[in-house]
Amino acid sequence: NPHPLDAEAVLEWYDRHARDLPWRVSPQNRKARNRPDPYRVWLSEVMLQQTTVAAVQKYFLRFTSLWPRVEDLAAAPLDAVLREWAGLGYYARARNLHACAQAVVRDHGGVFPDTAAGLQTLPGVGAYTSAAIAAICFDERIAVLDGNLDRVLARYYALPVPVRDAKDALRGALQIAVPERAGDFAQAMMDLGATICAPRTAYCLVCPIQPGCVATREGAPERYPIKPEK
Ligand code: ADE
Repeated sequence: NPHPLDAEAVLEWYDRHARDLPWRVSPQNRKARNRPDPYRVWLSEVMLQQTTVAAVQKYFLRFTSLWPRVEDLAAAPLDAVLREWAGLGYYARARNLHACAQAVVRDHGGVFPDTAAGLQTLPGVGAYTSAAIAAICFDERIAVLDGNLDRVLARYYALPVPVRDAKDALRGALQIAVPERAGDFAQAMMDLGATICAPRTAYCLVCPIQPGCVATREGAPERYPIKPEK
């Protein structure tokens, strides 16, 4: 059995170092227990699927000023949505985005489902996106595992095999660590993967989970994840 991630340490770090991103609730509002808007979180997660946080921000601000609510996006002409999407790539995502907004309005009265299972019934919303929205918006205690998290966990456990051969074990290890503040935890782990446990360099001295990290103890965190043989 793997030792669990120290979720308390991760949350304490997040309370001090969370990135201030336009789809997030600000630190003051987090203390007041304001919840993020599922429409904005869904939009950001779809945009972030193949595009960096830095590139997504201006698109996100443009979309939310043109179409502040899901009803507005659903009512927009598809060609206007595709035009605004230009530069983000993967136009199938923009078509799915529009279809999903229409499904939320038509089938759900404009209210996003509040569970990962419910969210997964929407067009273009798969396992990752549904888990991310459910955790971030509704604190569903579900593992939110993306490519960055694969790397963090591969290092934390000094995973002796390529990630693709241990998906279930990684998901299980993350799942048992998910605390009550599931949404903050999910976003904290994303920030940690982006800024500390980065692909080429791991800044272990400032990492909140360094005390439990096996790869750091071995002295070579960047050796992980192990590359699959071609
Ligand atoms: N990448 C994907 N989703 C993200 C989020 N909510 N915050 C930061 N990076 C992300």
